[in-house]
Amino acid sequence: MDITTLLPMLADGEFRSGQDLANALGVSRTAVWKQLNKLADLGLELEAVKGRGYRIPGGVDFLSEVDIRGGLTSDASALMNDLLLLNETDSTNAELMRKISVGAVSGLVCTAEQQTAGRGRLGRTWVSPFAGSVYLSLMWEFSQGAAALQGLSLGVGVAVVRALESLGVEGVKLKWPNDILYDGAKLGGVLLEMAGDAAGVCQVVVGVGINVSIPRSVAASIDQSWIDLGGICAGATPRRSTVVAALLNEILPMVAGFESEGFSPLHQAWTDLDAYADQPVVIHSGEKRQRGICRGVDGRGALQLETSTGIQPIFGGEISLRKDT
Ligand code: BTN
Repeated sequence: MDITTLLPMLADGEFRSGQDLANALGVSRTAVWKQLNKLADLGLELEAVKGRGYRIPGGVDFLSEVDIRGGLTSDASALMNDLLLLNETDSTNAELMRKISVGAVSGLVCTAEQQTAGRGRLGRTWVSPFAGSVYLSLMWEFSQGAAALQGLSLGVGVAVVRALESLGVEGVKLKWPNDILYDGAKLGGVLLEMAGDAAGVCQVVVGVGINVSIPRSVAASIDQSWIDLGGICAGATPRRSTVVAALLNEILPMVAGFESEGFSPLHQAWTDLDAYADQPVVIHSGEKRQRGICRGVDGRGALQLETSTGIQPIFGGEISLRKDT
């Protein structure tokens, strides 16, 4: 028996006695106890009360393939080629990059309960606790090379905000190029990775992470100001499967239309969601620093930085943007 056998029995957040758990699983109480001790490694809290047994306060919000598929619109359903739902992976993006090398088909989606090496932008680690967030990746094939994909990651940001709005989460904003913000704190992020021919047929993995209920025990390892849906939705946090379906309902049609339509139809929507509009910022690019005022983005998704010498377009890449204080 391992922890994945025991966890579903505690997923509802109700108390179970050690004996009940042992009987149901056909193992000794000592074996149950050994597994219960491993919950902390997953960032899950265990409450033990004499005479009542054990429970995970708040339960465990497992992903459900039935709920994800059931929550899809007919459009999204038709565009999704397959859904991989994993218990644990290093990174859902890495998983799809490996699938590309063995011939994955456009529309392949991967989500997981946990990532052991979640990837963020600029080589950062994306903290990915068990059942605490949504880790979602989608592979799409494009035929006109990387140039036709300018602005795609911004378009994904717009789709993510629309998805959250469809769940009643209002007030989510975007920070160029890939951050999903709420009240200035990071709620999620987008990471695009590419394989294939940059001038021809290429495959893009669109990765989205959304904090849902980050356990306090792992919160300390997040090195920036962050928030989760639990902190926004007060008592009515959407289930992770519901969030996954909502994201796919917006991202799949947007990505499918991007090669023919590009960023233009999303330009105004992005501008309306721009958290840094008219704000003084410093652009960090390696050792280089550039000060200016954010004046939105152009039709290619390049940031329009107003400097003393005029507007400088700033393209993505190894760049980060910080408030100029
Ligand atoms: C960022 O740095 O803001 C981007 C974070 C992207 C995280 C998501 S989680 C799903 C997918 N798999 C990964 O390893 N990263 C992306």
